[in-house]
Amino acid sequence: MYVCICNAVTDTQIIEAQQNGLKTMAQITEHLGVGNCCGRCVETAKEVLAENSGVRKFIPQMAENPSLVPA
Ligand code: FES
Repeated sequence: MYVCICNAVTDTQIIEAQQNGLKTMAQITEHLGVGNCCGRCVETAKEVLAENSGVRKFIPQMAENPSLVPA
């Protein structure tokens, strides 16, 4: 799936970059350009990084609607 439309970057590319040692959003931005244009993709890119590192971001809507919590 495309995460950053401005730079045509997919979640797979972000995960590959993370697996190759880039751990922070700043590093991902520098390497792939994610978030360096309109910035709309930054939160989604951060979620991809967090999910792949085993850390899930708490989303308040999940507390109100448990069906949003991933299995
Ligand atoms: S969608 Fe990523 S910078 Fe615009």
